[in-house]
Amino acid sequence: MKSMGFDDNKFRNHTNNADCCYPFSSFYRNNQRIFTFLACFIFFGIVYCFYIPGITLLSPVMDSETQTDFFVNKTLPPVALLPESGDFSDVNESQASSPETYNSQGSQEDKCDIFTGEWVPDQNGPFYTNHSCNSIEAHQNCMKNGRPDSGYIYWRWTPKHCELPRFNPERFLQLMRNKVMAFIGDSISRNHVQSLLCTLSQVQEAVDVYHDEKYASRRWYFPSYNFTLSVIWSPFLIKAAIFENIDGVSSDIPKLNLDELDPEWIKDYKKFDYIEIGGGKWYLKTAIYYENNTVVGCHNCPQENITKLGFEYAYRKAINLALEFITSSEHKAYTIFRTSTPDHFENGEWNTGGYCNRTVPFKEGDIDLIDVDRTMHDIELEEFQKADKGLNLRLFDTTHLSLLRPDGHPGPYRTYQPFSIDKNAKVQLDCLHWCLPGPIDSWNDLMMETLMDE
Ligand SMILES: *[C@@H]1O[C@H](CO)[C@@H](O)[C@H](O)[C@H]1NC(C)=O
Ligand SMILES: *[C@@H]1O[C@H](CO)[C@@H](O)[C@H](O)[C@H]1NC(C)=O
Ligand SMILES: *[C@@H]1O[C@H](CO)[C@@H](O)[C@H](O)[C@H]1NC(C)=O
Ligand SMILES: *[C@@H]1O[C@H](CO)[C@@H](O)[C@H](O)[C@H]1NC(C)=O
Ligand SMILES: *[C@@H]1O[C@H](CO)[C@@H](O)[C@H](O)[C@H]1NC(C)=O
Ligand SMILES: *[C@@H]1O[C@H](CO)[C@@H](O)[C@H](O)[C@H]1NC(C)=O
Ligand SMILES: *[C@@H]1O[C@H](CO)[C@@H](O)[C@H](O)[C@H]1NC(C)=O
Repeated sequence: MKSMGFDDNKFRNHTNNADCCYPFSSFYRNNQRIFTFLACFIFFGIVYCFYIPGITLLSPVMDSETQTDFFVNKTLPPVALLPESGDFSDVNESQASSPETYNSQGSQEDKCDIFTGEWVPDQNGPFYTNHSCNSIEAHQNCMKNGRPDSGYIYWRWTPKHCELPRFNPERFLQLMRNKVMAFIGDSISRNHVQSLLCTLSQVQEAVDVYHDEKYASRRWYFPSYNFTLSVIWSPFLIKAAIFENIDGVSSDIPKLNLDELDPEWIKDYKKFDYIEIGGGKWYLKTAIYYENNTVVGCHNCPQENITKLGFEYAYRKAINLALEFITSSEHKAYTIFRTSTPDHFENGEWNTGGYCNRTVPFKEGDIDLIDVDRTMHDIELEEFQKADKGLNLRLFDTTHLSLLRPDGHPGPYRTYQPFSIDKNAKVQLDCLHWCLPGPIDSWNDLMMETLMDE
């Protein structure tokens, strides 16, 4: 994993395929190529690579040793799956349900916390299938792609101390009549919006009214309800220069303005009645940080004269800025702040043979967040606590319930019938995003409940 020479042009020949990572699976046999394959993920992260169609993202400057080490070392140790280790004291239930840590309502500490609970078998299954919903992104269409087991769609999140009604699409659309709702964030936001669209499609098929060049930001309209639903691509939430050309090839480290929010969502903010906002994983990438248009530091950058601040510094600032903007804005958008989502690569990472082939959820206490995910989650909770919650800001703390679902990811089934030709084919696995239908459908139940709290 030491100094890896990167040559952008080498990739350009291979970059016009439908997505950034898949084409590289055939390079596995060639060491040099493996590194370039790695770079795609290291630089843009699995998050990015998986959901911007038509892009390959590589950069000669992103292959810093530390960044590589980070991903290589960020493994789920097998021991993390065993409850007996003393390291798991922080899944202590009494702690997990403590209001300071998990209560999502801030001022209403006595309210039941819908994010503390367990996954229970549910014979009803999902609201939709690959047959009934036509807006499932190819990479998450596990059924269609040939995932052999289906047990993972028969579970429902059930809070410990309260009832969580099953999502009612008709009721949701009624609530959203004449309203505008925006999902702002990274690929997990997109994943959620697609789950919502599929669930709503049994009542009304949305009309596709807008998409940007890369289908990163999109907008749909429900004519009978005059309801507009958007997803806005803003992986850092703050202003970020991401140096990529039309083919998605990057030529430099992303530069983040820590004191400026991303105009992508700010410019339309006043139009939104409801927002779900959140990010996370993109902050693990190498980046240079600016304040007052001056370099203040970086995360993992190779330049020796730049202060190494770590992603925590930037992530905290970004969340703080976003929540401050929302809570102090004259326009009151009802805001759901979504916490970050852990991945489930086991015995390796996405690039070192990690896999996610479990077929049932974890039980409480079987697993704990790895350090980097915990750090991220702590920052989210702390910044949320600091924010003036008023009437219009709610926490959407899906981190822990997501952690319990190693079985809900596409794994190899992010592409169509990956083993139809070669049973032992090496394909890139996705252990971060969720199959649709899949566990993320439960987020709609939780979102509805959070909205009803208004
Ligand atoms: C990753 O592990 C290697 C040894 O396996 C170690 O030398 C390196 O310092 C570790 N990197 C980080 C960021 O922990
Ligand atoms: C869990 O927390 C309770 C109260 O804080 C404590 O009494 C108990 O020993 C803890 N259990 C474990 C396994 O840490
Ligand atoms: C849905 O997936 C099943 C396999 O589970 C497949 O037989 C069927 O053709 C798929 N339907 C669509 C519309 O893709
Ligand atoms: C449709 O909703 C928008 C706001 O989203 C509102 O401005 C407009 O008046 C609504 N149209 C009707 C016919 O109610
Ligand atoms: C940015 O500029 C403002 C005033 O122009 C100043 O108060 C602030 O300390 C500066 N921040 C940094 C990080 O230099
Ligand atoms: C770091 O050094 C490079 C060249 O040595 C210089 O161009 C750059 O301005 C320096 N950056 C900072 C933040 O001092
Ligand atoms: C998952 O894959 C590993 C390694 O190939 C294998 O040892 C294990 O039995 C598999 N587990 C399941 C549930 O298929």
